[in-house]
Amino acid sequence: MIDFPRMVKVAGVKKDGGVVVLSLAERFPSQPGQFAMLWLPEKGEKPYSFLSENEFGIAPVGELSRGLASLRKGDAVGVRGPYGRGFVLKGKRVLLVGGGCGVVPLAFLAKEAKKKGMAVTVITGAKTAALLSLHSSLASCASVFCCTDDGTKGRKGFVTDALKDALVLKHYDCVYACGPEKMLRLVAEICVKKNVPCQLSAERLMKCGLGICGQCDLDGLLVCRDGPVFEARDLLKKPSFGRTSLSASGKETVL
Ligand SMILES: Cc1cc2nc3c(=O)[nH]c(=O)nc-3n(C[C@H](O)[C@H](O)[C@H](O)COP(=O)(O)OP(=O)(O)OC[C@H]3O[C@@H](n4cnc5c(N)ncnc54)[C@H](O)[C@@H]3O)c2cc1C
Ligand code: FES
Repeated sequence: MIDFPRMVKVAGVKKDGGVVVLSLAERFPSQPGQFAMLWLPEKGEKPYSFLSENEFGIAPVGELSRGLASLRKGDAVGVRGPYGRGFVLKGKRVLLVGGGCGVVPLAFLAKEAKKKGMAVTVITGAKTAALLSLHSSLASCASVFCCTDDGTKGRKGFVTDALKDALVLKHYDCVYACGPEKMLRLVAEICVKKNVPCQLSAERLMKCGLGICGQCDLDGLLVCRDGPVFEARDLLKKPSFGRTSLSASGKETVL
């Protein structure tokens, strides 16, 4: 089935650390980890995770994301979705690990986990304190530990170092992670070594978002259709996971 973007009004915009939260005037029944293709005329269309059924968190890094982050109340954005398979909550005590804007789907997941009565811990990381995102939303439903590359807030270093320590200190029924694929590969290796179930949201360039074009191929898996959330064990079997991905022209590119 071919979907066309539906133009939806922006109901509100606010900055929250490294992301701009866009609230839309319509809700899209969705699960944490699912995404929508957001489109702006002349700037293109890319996948963005749901922060809630009517919110997205945009890190302004390039032409489309800057365009989305500079929308104002009353402007319109094209939306296709929800697409993909989201996270599946398991157990009683869960650990969420987010790098950069990877924290967006995890903030949605933390709220759902809290509603189910789970104990939720979040490790969130960014280059510097000003780029740590969605802190108050996370703190309302989880214990939050921050890491920054430059040590300006929380622990100096990577979320993967904090993850190793967290798994030594406590038992978690499942780890959920989202962020750059290089970081996800390390998270997967740490969890598999410790025998802790782990679900990861993979990041690949997408064009159709529907399983047609092959742009998001991850060694035979289509991230838009089969994911973006996968079991860590399954992704570790894929040689390109966290190492290479396809550029817009179809060229294999080192991550
Ligand atoms: C399933 C899925 C969910 C996603 N969810 C979100 C989300 O919730 N929020 C969000 O902001 N993005 C999200 N993305 C990324 C998003 O689709 C775009 O790739 C991103 O916004 C950059 O697009 P652009 O055209 O603005 O910049 P581009 O022109 O693609 O990139 C500009 C520059 O920024 C760099 N860059 C790209 N992405 C990032 C990044 N995340 N951090 C730092 N540098 C980067 C590029 O390497 C390049 O140098 C998601 C991607 C996937 C696959
Ligand atoms: S983006 Fe086209 S197949 Fe996934």
